Amino acid sequence: MSHRRILPADLSPMETNALLCGGVAPRPIALASTISADGVRNLSPFSFFNAFGSNPPTVAFAPNRRGRDGTVKHTYLNAVATGEFVIAAVSHAMLHPMNVASAEWPEGVDEFPKCGLTPLPASLVKPALVGESPFQMECHLKQVVELGSGPGSGLMLIGEVLAFHVREDCFVDGILHPDALDLVGRNGGAFYTRASGAAVFQVPKPAGKPLGYDALPEALKQSHILTGNDLGQLANSPGLPDLSAMARQPGDPPGPAGLDHAIHRALAIGDMDEAWRLVGLRLKA
Ligand SMILES: Cc1cc2nc3c(=O)[nH]c(=O)nc-3n(C[C@H](O)[C@H](O)[C@H](O)COP(=O)(O)O)c2cc1C
Repeated sequence: MSHRRILPADLSPMETNALLCGGVAPRPIALASTISADGVRNLSPFSFFNAFGSNPPTVAFAPNRRGRDGTVKHTYLNAVATGEFVIAAVSHAMLHPMNVASAEWPEGVDEFPKCGLTPLPASLVKPALVGESPFQMECHLKQVVELGSGPGSGLMLIGEVLAFHVREDCFVDGILHPDALDLVGRNGGAFYTRASGAAVFQVPKPAGKPLGYDALPEALKQSHILTGNDLGQLANSPGLPDLSAMARQPGDPPGPAGLDHAIHRALAIGDMDEAWRLVGLRLKA
């Protein structure tokens, strides 16, 4: 399959935005709660958002200039005026209220009663917490980075987290469990992702210095049955076991193709010992 080469210079800002949002995805969503200098609350979602460091805990999001006319958003004005914001993670149960909060409500309108989410007092900053969110951060604005001046240009707000608020049931064995958080992410267009249930899986971290793809036996790399992920799992092993010692068992397939299918099945359930035993047989087949 060929790839299309696209230069930003050939696109309008709206087209570039659509391309970025489709390909840099899924993005977490910051439901940003701010307050204006004269005390009016604001709540709006932003998916140009992430965490960038943990010491000190640092997050950034980008309420950018409007693509239509280059004007700045209320969230940006409020955060810059007060130096404070709260970021609430968006769970699936908050999806449609969050969407209502994203509408272009006029200046001076508090989006909390509009979208039905519950404002609660924060501990260290004036903007409100969002009662329904499972994970929230009270933030102090550290730096504003202007990434342009035209319509759609980036206005990145970098904040230091002063306090986290995490719903108690989200801790499972001491870590935040994706099923309890049930967060949603933003893709391109009207597409969203739900990060829980069957969409969530675990991958073991590379153990020390992994074997590496280049050290895998050539016969495996030439296989039309083993996938890139199969070979990646084998390459992630801590070392090459003694393949000559692998013993055949009743029911093992006789030929290379059958063994490759069996290796693939063993890897699909994460049974590395069985996969390597079958690799040993495969090299003798
Ligand atoms: C899921 C979602 C993500 C969004 N992400 C961004 C973003 O990263 N940057 C941005 O400028 N606008 C983003 N928007 C649009 C803003 O939420 C929208 O412009 C809002 O009206 C801004 O409100 P404000 O003027 O009260 O700050 C997003 C909208 C949705 C629904």
